[in-house]
Amino acid sequence: MGTESDIKLINEDGTRIDGRTAEELRPIKIETNVLNRADGSALIEWGGNKILAAVYGPREAYPKHTQDINRAIVKCKYNMAAFSVDERKRPGPDRRSIEISKVVSEALTAAIMVEKFPRAQVDVFIEVLQADAGTRIAGLTAASVAVAAAGIPMRDFVVGCTAGKVEGKIVLDLCKEEDNFGEADLPVAVMSNSGKVVLMQMDGSLSLDEFNQATEMIVRATKVINQIQRDALSAKYAASMEGGE
Ligand code: CDP
Repeated sequence: MGTESDIKLINEDGTRIDGRTAEELRPIKIETNVLNRADGSALIEWGGNKILAAVYGPREAYPKHTQDINRAIVKCKYNMAAFSVDERKRPGPDRRSIEISKVVSEALTAAIMVEKFPRAQVDVFIEVLQADAGTRIAGLTAASVAVAAAGIPMRDFVVGCTAGKVEGKIVLDLCKEEDNFGEADLPVAVMSNSGKVVLMQMDGSLSLDEFNQATEMIVRATKVINQIQRDALSAKYAASMEGGE
């Protein structure tokens, strides 16, 4: 969350700094199986975010002591490229990327039928090529498509969105300026059919009413985003049936 700033985030007419209304998503585009070596992959463009997700497995978990005799383990690695942000990011893992890797692994573990693959691991790589706020949710949303594209059985898609508070107003899908200078940021991911919450984090503070308003907006948005996930998968299968890919 940002510090004091002169930047005006809500215009006189109630629109936002990038011209959107309070409940308007940034444009979202997902393309499936963009990498030949991965078992499944997806490229998501969400506003100014460009993020690749690559999935490998299930394969025998290595090193062996990490194996679980009852289920597969999901190992996620979230990484931000040095050139993905305004100020060059120091390469390699940091506290933030370790935290995001952990919460994304947990969210995907809830959706994947891990009990079908004892002693196995599923590797999920999320590479942020261009960052513009909401990368954990965009990365997770893409990773869920990549897992499905890899043919790994899932209970549900995982789909997410953020909402937050900007100059006292609850808004959907924060952009970079809103994330930096707003009063609250609430990323949430759910399972598409059951609606079960698999990721929820919050920066800043919201009243209970504001929290309810934000989560209602997020749940409505996840329906739209889930359709984009499904369309991305079916487009790929339709193309492979036609072209024999
Ligand atoms: O990306 P997400 O909103 O999930 O996580 P965040 O920690 O709230 O980061 C918000 C945004 O800050 C990122 O999406 C990047 O655009 C930016 N950021 C940055 O410029 N440099 C970093 N080292 C980390 C984040």
